[in-house]
Amino acid sequence: MDERERVQDDEAKGPPETDPRIAGEKHPVAKMIGIGVLASLVGIAITLWIDWFPEAGSTSANKIDTLYDVLLICSVPVFVLVMTVAIYSVVRFRAKPGDLGDGAPIHGNTRLEVIWVTIPFLMVTALAIYGWITLDDIEAKQPNEMVVNVTGQQFTWTFQYPSEKLDAKELVLPVDRPVDFRIHTKDVIHSFWVPQFRLKSDAVPGLTTTVRVTPDREGNFEVVCTELCGLGHSTMRQFASVVSAGEFRSWVADQKKAAGGGAPAGGGGQASGPDAAALFTSNGCSGCHTLAEAGATAKVGPDLGKLGKVNAAFIRTSIVDPNADVTKGYKPNIMPQDFKDKLSKEELDALVKYLLKAQG
Ligand code: CUA
Repeated sequence: MDERERVQDDEAKGPPETDPRIAGEKHPVAKMIGIGVLASLVGIAITLWIDWFPEAGSTSANKIDTLYDVLLICSVPVFVLVMTVAIYSVVRFRAKPGDLGDGAPIHGNTRLEVIWVTIPFLMVTALAIYGWITLDDIEAKQPNEMVVNVTGQQFTWTFQYPSEKLDAKELVLPVDRPVDFRIHTKDVIHSFWVPQFRLKSDAVPGLTTTVRVTPDREGNFEVVCTELCGLGHSTMRQFASVVSAGEFRSWVADQKKAAGGGAPAGGGGQASGPDAAALFTSNGCSGCHTLAEAGATAKVGPDLGKLGKVNAAFIRTSIVDPNADVTKGYKPNIMPQDFKDKLSKEELDALVKYLLKAQG
């Protein structure tokens, strides 16, 4: 009988016991398996071909990348299976035009349900165990670890090296030395991430979180904040420089010299005091303010190139005591209150001079 007769037949007999359209019909199971296997192989090839992550920069990176690849290899066939059955069903069992009847009252299939609960359960359990073993391996304490305290604040990162007794506004790490990052925040939640290291952790008020990393490749990698932390979130980016052990030691010495006697900063080859433009960026000013000569375009605070008629004393007060005179249209307590502790006298002088000059 053709389709129209069949529908009329159904209407005469009432709801059938089984869907008459598939009764006695052979499903193209072999064909679907063939298509599914082919689609899975193509899908796996594509996902493995895509570069999901930037170059690896730590000893953990390859383990994490392998874990990710295994997850993809397991996920693609499941996705293909679900989509093959779904697409086949949509095409094959679509209601004919004009068919407004209810579907067949199918109650379920116990054997199928046991299979589709058991197999995913076993897969997810196996992957969870693999993930746990990998995490345990990555987080294991290493010999000769160097502790680096990382502090997030709106909108900059600062770094402290307890064993070197050094505070720094940039992150420099010796290659192949295990690092134990202790992550803090002064205000809201931030998230510390160097994509090349792969590992990431939130900086949470009142907590110290940790990330263990052994950088194994020299280079400059971006430090990114990955937690929406306010208007300047997208500008909360700095660099992690991974250098040789010798370069690291001389960087530490230079930093100490610059911080100690107020001598000219040795590192940048500056001849006349601290580099104010560099200070403007490294202290996070550019994360909140616009300043044409510094290439800063943030709009959390006032445009520092357009302060109008101001003198050096006003600029100095605005840096060390930001709530003293808040520009109209802006709120107090947004700007960090601790620049008076963070900046040396020379650095503050240089910044005041720099900002005063910026008014033209
Ligand atoms: Cu800090 Cu986003």
